[in-house]
Amino acid sequence: MGDERPGRLGRSVRDGTSHDRTHVTLQDVARRADVSLATASRVLNGTTQVRPDLRERVIAAAAALAYAPNAHAQALARASSQAIGLICHDVGDPYFATIARGVTRAAAEHGLLVMLASTSRDPAREVAYTAMLRAQRARAILLIGSGFEDRDWARAMNAELEPYIRAGGRVAVISRHHSLQVDTVQPENREGAAALARALTGLGHRDFAVLTGPHALTTVADRLGGFRDGLADGGVRLADDLVIEEAFTRDGGYAAATELLRRGSRPTCVFAVTDVMAIGALAAFRDHGVDVPGQISLAGFDDIPIVGDLVPPLTTVALPLVEMGERVMNLALREPHGSRRRVERIAGEVVLRASTAAPSRTVPG
Ligand code: GUN
Repeated sequence: MGDERPGRLGRSVRDGTSHDRTHVTLQDVARRADVSLATASRVLNGTTQVRPDLRERVIAAAAALAYAPNAHAQALARASSQAIGLICHDVGDPYFATIARGVTRAAAEHGLLVMLASTSRDPAREVAYTAMLRAQRARAILLIGSGFEDRDWARAMNAELEPYIRAGGRVAVISRHHSLQVDTVQPENREGAAALARALTGLGHRDFAVLTGPHALTTVADRLGGFRDGLADGGVRLADDLVIEEAFTRDGGYAAATELLRRGSRPTCVFAVTDVMAIGALAAFRDHGVDVPGQISLAGFDDIPIVGDLVPPLTTVALPLVEMGERVMNLALREPHGSRRRVERIAGEVVLRASTAAPSRTVPG
């Protein structure tokens, strides 16, 4: 018993000589290995321990028959698939692409597939994609976009996540989602922005403007709040009319910088709360003949891969984006810590580059 007995399986599909291998079933493998269906399933689905000799027979039979497991059937059996759901706000934004690189790298180490959803920055879509990933029995769901300060969104999201987590699903997020009780990779946005402000006042700047995204995003609130704190440490107050809110995108940065110039404001230094917004601002300043850093110094936040290659290279607060992706994936693969959530804090590092310099004038003009 247990040796190869192609005769028992008949010809065609079952002896592995057929061309129609797509129809090899688990039953075929069990018969060929001369084990029960349950044993073959345990070996191939890796659910429980099986005697080594039986295990070897099943694996040999599966190889001989070129057995390809049915991923949907496996998912149903386990109530979770080999897929991870990754929800970002904008797949075209290098911040998310760089984090996704880390997520996919860590997922590959565990033989997991990543399904990517991009919400186009629509909070309702984030909830809808979460519901779809639940229905797909994703093993874990990762939210890597900023949290929202929005009660309706939080209620709708919790209504999806709580039953998913109760059923064994895992959830981990990047950035501050204070309304979700889930494991978190938390960049120190507040502290990083404060350190940047101190570095810029250290260069001699006193007149600032900030280009922000929507204040309902926790990342925006934290970076803006931290920047104000850091300026206050240097005795500088940021006037409300020098905080310009636009979309959290390159085009938003362009529009905000254009609006700043239209108002006639000429700060010596501008902080855009993300590098992508800073890229838009740099283009707007160039289009309006404003020299960076000769007339206005410019800084961003994140250190996405391309900003060191801009002309001039961008001053920023560097976050280890690939590592953040790896960490959020690994958090989701760890056993839950009872009802307590884990928070892994990530420090930012101020990187001064040529887009910032000491102010060359004292009177804005
Ligand atoms: N940093 C934190 N959140 C974001 C985001 O949504 N986009 C970009 N570009 N940078 C970020």
